[in-house]
Order: sequence, then structure tokens, then C-alpha cells
Amino acid sequence: MTRLSTPLVVACIILGLPINGFVLPFQRSQHALQDSKSHNQPLIFSPSTGEVLETRPLHGRFLEITDIHPDPNYKPFTDPDSCCHYGNNEDYEFSPEDTGHYGFPVSKCDAPPSLVNATFEWIQKHYLDNIDFIVWTGDNVRHDRDRLLPRTEPEIFSSNEELVSTFRNVFGTGNPYFPYRIPIIPNIGNNDVYPHNLVVEGPTLQSREFYRIYNGMVPEEQAHIFNKGMYFMKEVIPNQLVVISLNTLYWFDTNPVVDGCNIKTDPGSHQFRWLRVVLKELRARGMKAWLSGHVPPTKDNWEPTCRDRYIAWTHEYRDVIIGGLYGHMNIDHFVVHDIVEAYKQKKEEGVAATHDESFVEPSLLSHAEASEDFDQDDHIKTCKPKHYIDPSDHDSFTAQGKADYFEEIRLGYEKAAKNHNNDTRYSLSLVHPSVIPTYFPGVRVYEYNIEGLDEAVRRPQVYANGLPVRPWSDIFDELNEYLDLIKQLDNSELDELDIETHGLEMPEVLHITKKKGKDKKKKKKKKLIIDPTWPPEFGDIEPGPAYKYQLFTPTKYIQFIANISRVNLKGEKFYYEVEYDTNKAPYHMVDLTVKNWIYLAGNLSSSVVQKKKKKGLWDKYLFYAFESSGYEEIMTWIWVDS
Ligand SMILES: *[C@@H]1O[C@H](CO)[C@@H](O)[C@H](O)[C@H]1NC(C)=O
Ligand SMILES: *[C@@H]1O[C@H](CO)[C@@H](O)[C@H](O)[C@H]1NC(C)=O
Ligand SMILES: *[C@@H]1O[C@H](CO)[C@@H](O)[C@H](O)[C@H]1NC(C)=O
Ligand SMILES: *[C@@H]1O[C@H](CO)[C@@H](O)[C@H](O)[C@H]1NC(C)=O
Repeated sequence: MTRLSTPLVVACIILGLPINGFVLPFQRSQHALQDSKSHNQPLIFSPSTGEVLETRPLHGRFLEITDIHPDPNYKPFTDPDSCCHYGNNEDYEFSPEDTGHYGFPVSKCDAPPSLVNATFEWIQKHYLDNIDFIVWTGDNVRHDRDRLLPRTEPEIFSSNEELVSTFRNVFGTGNPYFPYRIPIIPNIGNNDVYPHNLVVEGPTLQSREFYRIYNGMVPEEQAHIFNKGMYFMKEVIPNQLVVISLNTLYWFDTNPVVDGCNIKTDPGSHQFRWLRVVLKELRARGMKAWLSGHVPPTKDNWEPTCRDRYIAWTHEYRDVIIGGLYGHMNIDHFVVHDIVEAYKQKKEEGVAATHDESFVEPSLLSHAEASEDFDQDDHIKTCKPKHYIDPSDHDSFTAQGKADYFEEIRLGYEKAAKNHNNDTRYSLSLVHPSVIPTYFPGVRVYEYNIEGLDEAVRRPQVYANGLPVRPWSDIFDELNEYLDLIKQLDNSELDELDIETHGLEMPEVLHITKKKGKDKKKKKKKKLIIDPTWPPEFGDIEPGPAYKYQLFTPTKYIQFIANISRVNLKGEKFYYEVEYDTNKAPYHMVDLTVKNWIYLAGNLSSSVVQKKKKKGLWDKYLFYAFESSGYEEIMTWIWVDS
């Protein structure tokens, strides 16, 4: 902790506030309460004087922004085969809308600084004073696609730093104690690490550097844990709502040092142990949570053993978790997760004993795999624009891959729709369009229900047994110590520890774990495997805001896109426009509860079966999936042909 904590603690004690309520920032936007103190109305205090600095009204709205990929080397009217870095490609028939000041739509070129600047200017103009927080899901640097200009680690850091300063230009306060007007929740993308996709368990220079860069965004009491794993959680509405920033790279099957969450020494498993404590604490406090990450939990992206566990946690904490917010894919879509499938996998895993004597040390395997992965990775090859790919030639792999991907998505929808009367069987991941013009740039604004927040805020923060809540700093200190200790244990020691500590509370667990580190004697192998990376099964949990309309249920989102073809062609002013609004045509969703997503899934999949020549709902969905850029026409062409 730094110097700011002591006066704040004093101020909190004087004012009779919980010490962990460092920032207590809000009141309802429409009818601001006059007599805020007597209503215990949350305010932001000056850490030095205890004076009220400001109140922050809440609006029931937040912004999601992802995959910005700024590239200072971008030059308009250059060759897309050079990543829009040089040449003017005389052989190339440019259509005037292809390239220009704000980027090259439907290409592998990254985002010009002018697009990033214009995006933030637009956000400032329209959303400066009416959003409650920002979820920012990573990839904050250009791709490493130009062989003449390899990307370096210092460049990754400085590109991240520049984006942070852009956020500060818009949302900064100039006050070192409260650097931002609203909480901003960053997340590490697979391009934010060097070499890309590869991230080991910390603390490393890398994780410390990111903590420094994200100063004021990652809570101080979680610095040690962030340095280990670059994951954290943030109270976006104190004592009520958090956003959990997951390090999805530990669950990403392209990360060569990741071997799966059925291996207890894997960093991905450690992250689940962390999540276990955090979710349990959130439930005990009656709080709700959004999950967020860069790489979405799809079959193609995640280690299956991590994905199944993730789905199980979203199911068992269906009272707490509202949904998952992800980036990485550039494609606008939603993914439905089925708990029945996840538990089938768990059963199978119990049979496949991963911890027997013949177990091969994962690090030996992974290094061999690592070099292969990098060679095969198309990211480091060329910048050939996708829309010049002739589908009749063998180079049509990308579009074909996407066509297959969407067919898989559609089949998932069809299956879910058959069980639409059992919504709690499913949980949702929402995958967001990117700012990088892989298609058209996009940003998204969610709205959520804040009716009843006043009453919730005035309730004292106590556990069900009436005891006051513990400060988060105590909980994270304990958890940090636990993570330190378990990192030193091997798989069989962890197996023993998990049996000994099964069902115990953290202070006792920690006590036993401390002894474990010292007592290194091997005990006889036990058959029963207790694995705390899987959640306990809670049969009779009342589903929360994801399933039943209540406080914090998301009511809708508006998807914005910037048609940069239009801007490039006509030299018009840059702006984002509404692409669609989930409340309106064609989706008409009354709110974003899982039931309504399952309905939509059913309508989408059946529209494919029903349609003959008429444009169906699925076509509209695909059009939006590629941000109205028209890319799906190439894709469907292949689809029909093959
Ligand atoms: C955009 O660029 C202008 C000109 O350099 C600068 O003044 C402004 O602060 C930038 N906007 C943001 C949001 O960074
Ligand atoms: C709903 O799904 C759960 C699995 O999550 C299952 O246990 C339950 O039996 C199902 N209920 C109905 C009514 O189909
Ligand atoms: C984008 O702009 C181009 C050029 O003006 C236009 O042809 C196209 O229809 C626009 N797309 C959308 C989705 O508005
Ligand atoms: C989608 O399906 C649900 C239930 O099957 C139905 O009630 C609803 O009207 C459909 N919505 C649209 C837009 O077709």
C-alpha cells in the first residue's frame, strides 16, 4: 500500500465507513438525492482531508471496447500487402473506398492513429458523462505481420501506454488518487504479450510493467496477485457490482506454456483457485459480477479442460455471474455454453487419471509444441487483404474457416433452442466487434437495470450471519499467500493438500498449506481426486440477473459501427452510427436475459431451415457479424459452393 491509504483509513474511521469502501462513488442520475450523507449516500472522499470531492451519478450504461490495434506506421493509399506500410502497389486496382485516412476496411491492415483518435473523440462527445464504467478487452498494439518491421516488447508496452493516455485524455481527472472519472477495466490480449500468445506465470518484468501501465485501473490491494497472473477484479459499483478481468491467455490453447486445467500446477488451474475464492466472497456479500477477457471461451480457442471448468463456474454461480464479455475474434456473435456437456467432460476426466506416476512433466512437451505453433501461425505471415481472396482458389481458407465456424455456432443454437424451457442449463459469452478495421470498426454500449439500487446501497454490508464484511485487502492478502505456497507444490502434493483442505475455509486452508510446503514427504497415492478448480455443485441456487429480470439485468445494447468506406470515399466526417439495437428490429429482445438469447438462437437457426430465397434472420445476423462490411457474401458464396 502507498501513502494514500493512511489518511483515507482515518477519514473512513471518522466518517464511520467501511475501510475497504475506498471509492464510494454514486447516486442515481435522474433524482439526485440532496441529503446524501444522512442516506449514507456514497461519495468520493479526498484522501487527505476526508472532504467530499464529488458524487458520481449512475446511468445504467457501460461501454465495451476491444482490439484497437493502433499502428503508427499505417499510411493511406499504400499497399495492403505491405500491411499498409509502404508502396502504392501500381499493379493494384484500388477502389477509392478501400484505403484512406481512417484505415482499410476488410483488410489485414491495423488501425491508423487517426481512427483511434476519432473513436475516442466520438466516445468523448457522446458518452463522457453517461456511462458507469468501461470494459476494455485488450490487443492494444499492431499485429506482428510486417517482416521488415518486427514488433518488439518495448513497442508493446509503449503502445499500451499510449492507449492508456488516450483513455486519460477523455476520462482522466488529473487527480492522482482518482485518476479516472469512472472505472476502466483493462485485459491482456494475446498480442499484448511477447512473443505473442505466450505468457508464463508471474511475477515477471512483463506483469510488473503492465501493473505500472494500468496504474489507477487495477486496484492496489491486488497488485501482488496481478503481478502473478495479470488477473484482477474491480468494484465498478462499490459493494454491489464487479467486473472480473480474467487472464484468458492461461486458458488459451495457442499459449505454448499452457497444458490444461486438469493439471494442478498449470497457471490456468491457479487462476481457477483464485476465481473460486472471489466468487464465493461475492456471493456471501450478495454482489453480482460480469466476467471479461480477451479470448472468448469457444471450442477452437480454449483448452477444453479449462473451458469446461469455466462453464461449470458460470453455472454454479448463476446467482452472481451476469455474463462474459470478450474480444479477439473481431466478429460480432454470441456463444451459448451448455452445463450438461461440461459435466460430461468432468466425468470423463475423473476416469482419465492425469496424476499417476507415468505423468510427463508438461514443460518438456510444451517447448517442442511451442516452435511448431509459431511456424503455423498465420498472424506473422502476410498482410494480404481478405477481400481479394478468390474463393475458387485454395487460398480461401480464411473464409472457409469462418463458414465452418458459423455452422458450428448455428448448430449450437439449434440444440439450445430445443431446451429453451430450461434456461439455467445455459450461460452466455458475448463476443464483440473490434475497432481494428478487419471489417468495419465497432464499439458497443450496454444498458442495465439500476432500479432498486438506492435501497441496495443503503443496506449495511454484512454477511448472511450478520457479521460485517471483511476488507477486500485482507481477502486478497490471504489469497496471495495461498497462491505463493501452492505454486511451490507438485501435482501429487496438491492432490494431498486438496483432500486435507476439502470443505475448509481459507484461513484454515492457508494454515494447512503452510505446513504442506515444509513437509515434503511423499504420502501414498490416494484414488479420490478432489479438484478445487471445479466448482462445488449448488443444486438449489436462485438464478440471478442473467436469468431473472432484477437489479443489474442487462436490458439491451446498441452496436455502433463506423463505415470507413463511406468516409474514405466521400471524404465525409468520421462518425459511429447505430448498426442495430437489440430492443428493436430485427431482434426485438425485451431484455438480455439468457432466456431471450435462447429464443433468439432458436429463431436464428430455424430461419436458415425455413428460408428459401427470402432473406432470413440468419442472413441479417451474419451481416452484423461482420459489422455490415459485406464480408459474409464471400463467406456464404464459399459455403454454398463447397
Ligand atoms: C486527438 O488528437 C488531437 C490532435 O492531436 C488531440 O488534441 C486530442 O487530444 C486527441 N484526442 C484524444 C481523445 O486523445
Ligand atoms: C435443466 O437442466 C439441468 C442441468 O442444468 C437438469 O439437471 C435439469 O433436470 C433440467 N430440468 C428440466 C426441467 O429439464
Ligand atoms: C458504407 O459506405 C459505402 C460507401 O458509401 C456504401 O456503399 C455502403 O452501403 C455503406 N454500408 C453501410 C452498411 O451502410
Ligand atoms: C422468437 O422465438 C420466440 C419463441 O419461440 C417467439 O415468441 C418470438 O416471437 C420469436 N421472435 C422473433 C423476432 O421471431
